[in-house]
Amino acid sequence: MNNQKAGFSGKIGFILAASGSAVGLGNIWRFPYLAAQYGGGIFLLVYLVLAVTFGFALMVTEVAIGRKTGMSAIKAFGVLNKKGSFIGVLASLVPMIIFPYYCVIGGWVIKYGTVFITGEGSAASSDGYFEGFIGSPVSPLVFTGIFIFLTSLVVLLGVQKGIEKISKILMPILLVLTIGISVYSLTLDGAMEGLIYYVKPNFSAFSLKTVVAAMGQLFYSMSLAMGIMITYGSYMQKKDNLESSVRSIEIFDTAIAFLSGLMIIPAVFAFSGGDESALNQGPGLMFVTLPKVFDSMAGGNIVGIVFFILVFFAALTSSISLMETIVSIFMDKFKIKRSIICIIVMFASMLIAVPSSLGNGIWSDILIMGKDFLSFFDFLSNNIMMPITALLTCIFVGFVIKTKAVEDEVELSDPFKAKKLYRIMIKYVCPVFLVVILISSIIGYV
Ligand code: PFF
Repeated sequence: MNNQKAGFSGKIGFILAASGSAVGLGNIWRFPYLAAQYGGGIFLLVYLVLAVTFGFALMVTEVAIGRKTGMSAIKAFGVLNKKGSFIGVLASLVPMIIFPYYCVIGGWVIKYGTVFITGEGSAASSDGYFEGFIGSPVSPLVFTGIFIFLTSLVVLLGVQKGIEKISKILMPILLVLTIGISVYSLTLDGAMEGLIYYVKPNFSAFSLKTVVAAMGQLFYSMSLAMGIMITYGSYMQKKDNLESSVRSIEIFDTAIAFLSGLMIIPAVFAFSGGDESALNQGPGLMFVTLPKVFDSMAGGNIVGIVFFILVFFAALTSSISLMETIVSIFMDKFKIKRSIICIIVMFASMLIAVPSSLGNGIWSDILIMGKDFLSFFDFLSNNIMMPITALLTCIFVGFVIKTKAVEDEVELSDPFKAKKLYRIMIKYVCPVFLVVILISSIIGYV
């Protein structure tokens, strides 16, 4: 088990690379629309509680498994104990489901970037613009194709390191810009009501649905329960502090999600004149709201350009990590050349992405379990597959290899401060919780 790969250059290298995967559309696009839809402050509170307990325990587990074995998910579980092999297989399926529809949203980002670059940002702020775009048959598909192509090009040419370097500079800028836009949003008329909705928990809006949605979002946003953090862990050096690295990734990821909500939700209130039904727009919320914000500010077109370029890079580093995982799984399984696998994955993803794109328009009548294609794939990965993978991981670590295996790995560098919390979470709290979540998802409660 000592086949450590070429490691990251130190703790900070690991944190930045893992954050590159974690911070993406999940934070900027998905978090705000879920928070808006599921009661604002109560969703935020549930999410934060889950992040510091559940998310922490699961991320420590995955990173430790990766570092201990020096392998990616598909092999790591089996190496620790044969009984675990199938968990690796299950985890590996998740990125294959997410990647194609992730690229559909990535395509929307490119489209909005080009709209602002061509100086038409104000058209994008008009009512119905977004629906018109995603409902059209060709344009969103073309942008999806471009996004998949660009991701594939990076993976094919093996220039991920270059992109990571660029994003090391761009992500802090994104953080600052998000703060700036949030501050501006808060000055809009009527925004205060939205701020209160977003940060003040309304306990009467609490239900199991809030928890299920927050949990799915946690997995998605932190790239958990799909083996990715295992791969990153496999590159981490033994001397680096695992626990504090995980905390840093979580804090950064959650901060970007929180700020994205702050940028969008108060603005929704401002532009809808307090009409709460505007909160239920789902996946379109960011694309409908932000152009209105930019349109209302001086120099908003430039801000729009910069914003969508930065979001594009955030999305790209995440999609690269998704595609890289898929490619390495196939490389491990079939001894085919990397370049050929990249090209096959690229074309296959373009095909699989078609229904997710057309489901917003000409195929909107085709529903699976009452959901359009994109929502269905989103639901299948976040609410079914990831909870199953997370549940099996907890049982595997808690009762097969035992939590001590992870604890010892964490303690290779420094004392494990949250060891007690970790043990209780993995063995008892997480499994019980996940079973409840899964049942409620499967019986169609969500
Ligand atoms: N965590 C990413 C985001 O929040 O956008 C999405 C993601 C990337 C999920 C990579 C899974 C993954 F492997």
